[in-house]
Amino acid sequence: MQNDLGGEPPRAERPEEPSRVDGGRRGALKVLVALGGAAYAGAIVLPAATMLAPSSEGGVGAARWMRVCRLAELSEGEPRRVVVVGDERDAYTVTKDQLLGSIWVTKKGESVTALSAVCPHLGCSIDLNGDKQSFSCPCHTSKFSLAGAAEAGPSPRGMDPLVVRVVDGHVEVDFKLFRQGIAERKEVG
Ligand code: FES
Repeated sequence: MQNDLGGEPPRAERPEEPSRVDGGRRGALKVLVALGGAAYAGAIVLPAATMLAPSSEGGVGAARWMRVCRLAELSEGEPRRVVVVGDERDAYTVTKDQLLGSIWVTKKGESVTALSAVCPHLGCSIDLNGDKQSFSCPCHTSKFSLAGAAEAGPSPRGMDPLVVRVVDGHVEVDFKLFRQGIAERKEVG
């Protein structure tokens, strides 16, 4: 029989384990902190991404129709170099009436074709040869057919074709630039 004085020795007190409720609260707190951090990071990254993204107007993949000459100015079968003047855009500004590049336009019967004058090798300006039967690049002597096919030299591909339309007697070109030095035709702007 036990009495008040001689019972079992007092048990050492065990530190109280965190209850499931406390653990749940801490977990919820961690989630809230993580969510807050993510939201904060998003608040910083999103505006930066927006600034770096190409503008939908005139960006990669978007049509950029430029009026380059009158149809009546083209001689049958003879390529004519025309300059492309338009607005230059970056993430912050638009600069009006800038020289954007030049292209070769050719009329044959009812059809009008255009080739970028930018050499796909390293970007020099491609010339029409004296016989008007082929193109060549003065920088490293790449040579191209009248249709723009690569025939000789280091250019990794033919001249870059551009889409043409005729509107009210004016030739318009969907002006694009392409990456240089690679065989694949990849638009850059
Ligand atoms: S830049 Fe045209 S051949 Fe090199």
